[in-house]
Amino acid sequence: MKPKKLILSGMRPTGQIHIGNWAGALANWIQLQDDPENLCFFMVADWHALTTEYQDTSAVESNIQEMVLDWITAGIDPERAILFRQSWVKEHSELSLILSMITPLSWLERNPTYKEQMKELADKDISTHGFLGYPVLQAADILLYRATHVPVGEDQLPHLELTREIARRFNFMCKKEIFVEPQAILSPTPKVLGIDARKMSKSYHNTIHIAEEEPELKNKIQSMYTDPQKIRAKDLGHPTPCPENPTGCTVFSLHKIFENSAEKTALREKECREGQLGCVACKKDLLDEINALFKPLRRKRSELAHKNGLIQDILREGSLKARKHAMETLGDARKAIHYHELV
Ligand code: TRP
Repeated sequence: MKPKKLILSGMRPTGQIHIGNWAGALANWIQLQDDPENLCFFMVADWHALTTEYQDTSAVESNIQEMVLDWITAGIDPERAILFRQSWVKEHSELSLILSMITPLSWLERNPTYKEQMKELADKDISTHGFLGYPVLQAADILLYRATHVPVGEDQLPHLELTREIARRFNFMCKKEIFVEPQAILSPTPKVLGIDARKMSKSYHNTIHIAEEEPELKNKIQSMYTDPQKIRAKDLGHPTPCPENPTGCTVFSLHKIFENSAEKTALREKECREGQLGCVACKKDLLDEINALFKPLRRKRSELAHKNGLIQDILREGSLKARKHAMETLGDARKAIHYHELV
């Protein structure tokens, strides 16, 4: 049976993931996986991690383990989706090499994420061949599975456009429809603020992890920034609590995601603005909401973590399955350019 959508997406293994990644990318993956007519491939992009982390790779194994534990804890199901490790499917590097031969340098140099990252990661030496070629490897990831749809965040759209251009160029050159041009499925990027009210991001050390333990969670919520323009009640001679502005408030940004009723959140906003809801009570509500959600997840994550070799086995099995698809496409691509395999 031909799947309705052939989905491929990937994440670089950076260790435990946070609730911002969950509300963005992962929630979207789970939704796609839950449609039984879709065939989903979810990839640990470990070669991509090497493009920026090549100077110290000692944490790669544990980063993979922690990330995949989080995927499964959040609801990714290895029975329904194919979870695999990029470097274990060697076809990725081979196709990447072939595609690199036909990709004009100018396409890579004008890539906005490349230019941005070169500025942002100024402390790392990433003026390498591999880093410039990052989108070629990503194109190989996608084209190998003839993915029709790729769920990604907005920042990845230039890479997806490049993938389409590379596919078109290859097909045009060999006059065969070897590759399928994929479409993006944009992940909603809810604005999840970190505990310091900046964007939630691992590099800012302001994250909440999936299934975070209660004492840490409580500490983090209690120390959260609320209204950045807070006027102290006593400054105005007001009775407490005083009116607040939930815009830019971390606690409110998280209620918007975790409170399960839009009406309740709207009422919360109103009461906050009118000064009827103090920050301490509002934080207590948030702790209760997240705790209720995390309670079963903590148990699930710790049970999974105690099963020795579980993640290894899931990735091994997934990689073997992925490989079947990848070999077929790579075989077609080699034939199309008259590079027959050794038989
Ligand atoms: N570049 C993606 C990111 O940083 C990760 C990635 C690698 C990916 N290969 C992919 C995403 C293929 C989608 C499809 O988020």
